[in-house]
Amino acid sequence: MPLSIHVCPWWLARSLDNPIRRLIHSPDKILGGYIEPGQTVLDLGCGSGTFTIAMARMVGEAGRVIAVDVQEEMLQMVRQKAVEEGLASRITTHKSEPNGIGISDKVDFALAFYMIHEVSDVDAFLMEVASLFKPSGRLLIAEPLIHVSESSFKKTVDAAQLAGLRPVSEPKIRFSRSMLFQPDNAVNSRKDLGWPMFPLDLFMRHRDVNR
Ligand SMILES: C[S@@+](CC[C@H](N)C(=O)[O-])C[C@H]1O[C@@H](n2cnc3c(N)ncnc32)[C@H](O)[C@@H]1O
Repeated sequence: MPLSIHVCPWWLARSLDNPIRRLIHSPDKILGGYIEPGQTVLDLGCGSGTFTIAMARMVGEAGRVIAVDVQEEMLQMVRQKAVEEGLASRITTHKSEPNGIGISDKVDFALAFYMIHEVSDVDAFLMEVASLFKPSGRLLIAEPLIHVSESSFKKTVDAAQLAGLRPVSEPKIRFSRSMLFQPDNAVNSRKDLGWPMFPLDLFMRHRDVNR
């Protein structure tokens, strides 16, 4: 299958990784609450690696980031940055196909930042993403407010739900529409133990991640 004509060209994605962008979309603020040391995390449509590099710091030496993109040029940029930052051992790059991601690792967290609107078959894509989660997994989708209308974003949320992912909160991310999901069969350790829902659970689910 050929690349969608809507795919962000690699030479433009390079410009997405700059200090102003990192100020507006601080990876630490956006992802800090979701990623822990030792985890395996997925950066879907990683582009030039703004989030990949930050995620590699968050997972620490024992963790792993799988950076996925349909464009080899993006992955080359990520590999180069990973070496420059001394993080190469924590980052695996994977070239996906427009009609399939093609990995089988189970992940704790996946990010799809500003990429779903470029995917040609969102239903199939999210079905595959949903199959990659550990029971405690989380998926954060963020889409650009300008390109993606409220109704288009709702279609994405509907597709995620059809794939077995349940919306849990709408984190506030500047200039974005966003939703955090967890698998329908998600393990909530305290609930599993038969304990009641704590106010902290509710707080965690609805907090503003862009504080
Ligand atoms: C606008 S860029 C965003 C890059 C990065 N997530 C960021 O926020 O800096 C979208 C990226 O998604 C990738 N992409 C588009 N469709 C894809 C697909 N079906 N599977 C994997 N990556 C895809 C593009 O090649 C591009 O690198």
